[in-house]
Amino acid sequence: MSVIKIAPAKSLKGEVVVPGDKSISHRALLIGSMAKGVSRFSGLNHGEDVAATAQFVSDLGCETDLLGSWGSREFHVKGGMDSYRSIGRPVWAGNSGTLVRLGAGLVAGCNFTTVFEGDESLSSRPMERIIKPLRAMGADINGVGERCTLPLSVHGPTSRENELVGITWVTPVASAQVKSSILLAGLRANGATTVKEPIATRRHTEEILALAGVSVEEHMEDGFNTVTLQRVSKMEPIDLHIPGDPSQAAFWVVGATLLEGSELFIPNIYSGVARDGYLKVLGAMGANIEKEEVKSASGLKTLNLVVRSASELSSIEIQKEDIAGLIDEIPILAVAAGVANGVSRFCGLSELRVKETDRLAGIVSLLESFGVESAIEGDDLVIEGLGSKFQKPGRVESNGDHRMAMAGAIGALSVEGMGSEVETTINGWESVATSYPGFSEDIEVLTASDSITS
Ligand code: S3P
Repeated sequence: MSVIKIAPAKSLKGEVVVPGDKSISHRALLIGSMAKGVSRFSGLNHGEDVAATAQFVSDLGCETDLLGSWGSREFHVKGGMDSYRSIGRPVWAGNSGTLVRLGAGLVAGCNFTTVFEGDESLSSRPMERIIKPLRAMGADINGVGERCTLPLSVHGPTSRENELVGITWVTPVASAQVKSSILLAGLRANGATTVKEPIATRRHTEEILALAGVSVEEHMEDGFNTVTLQRVSKMEPIDLHIPGDPSQAAFWVVGATLLEGSELFIPNIYSGVARDGYLKVLGAMGANIEKEEVKSASGLKTLNLVVRSASELSSIEIQKEDIAGLIDEIPILAVAAGVANGVSRFCGLSELRVKETDRLAGIVSLLESFGVESAIEGDDLVIEGLGSKFQKPGRVESNGDHRMAMAGAIGALSVEGMGSEVETTINGWESVATSYPGFSEDIEVLTASDSITS
């Protein structure tokens, strides 16, 4: 585990180009692997999670070709779901829940066994949420033990004429990964496949499928976001520039908001349904964010952001139904709430307990280390904002969770004072490579200082 120290910074200034959106990158590769022909992507996220998905589609028999350096240039996938081949050894999914859950849906109709393995964190995450619907569609899918954890083995149907059957599934949790897993399996299933979710989650699978020429029907019905598709016989190759990841932009938006004299330009950030909640929350807290719509050939909603420091932030109450739209941004929003004036409440955070780590517990100890009191009340998180910068440096235990490490880093920059006496220690810094390998370099450039020591 690598340990680093980060000193406070005066301000964040300049332009930061964040990595391509991680969720879109996974789907681009997976859906591109199904379409017959060559799909072309630029701006792919270059973290370890997406690299594992690129390896997966290549192992399934797709020709892949990276032109130039990973993440900055074009990535080609020569796909065709009819020519997938058995991988013959376990798929290493590393830390990526998205790869396991969507990948399982992708191969649920295949007449061979695929086994997914992952690191310690991924091996403890719940998989029954996808096992139940995929079994109902006819797949032979099994995890380990009562909680159905990894290794997960997936084989196509051995009965019902070897075909998956379409289902209507009401998801008990608002999860884009569950919805997407079912929809990807539905592309090979007999009849219609419908997912009904209590709260609309990110709709990247629907967006990328539409780019591949698949007709996806979406409407609200009895209070459920309802998504339906049919078996496909043909999918078109995709040509896509992947916009920047809002979950990564959120770290810089909060950093520039908290540090006096900051002015940051963050171009080309995805801003569609269920991914722009952090902008609304920070705006309501008093952040100074200018947004400009960018026209993109793909039609994906994209914004350029200019963020300037805010003189004061006020506390916020976030309702349960808004959580799905900012699920990955809660650690960094909690840092903002720790500095804000007054008591903030984040309601309905049960899903945070089953992310890469138990983020609910992690946030409480992160804030405590910076001298901020917070408490978990049922599934709610209550934070007593200081109404000032953090008054002491933190000791952040990321437990190998990339978003906790990066939230800790922005907290470290926002500590009162200057120099090595007020440095924050972050354990498990290597985890940032999961989604944002250049994060350390970006801190140094934007703070114009050597704030990080290892
Ligand atoms: C993701 C969906 C969310 C999110 C995860 C990525 C996706 O998970 O937390 O980082 O790409 O679909 P859930 O669907 O489990 O909420």
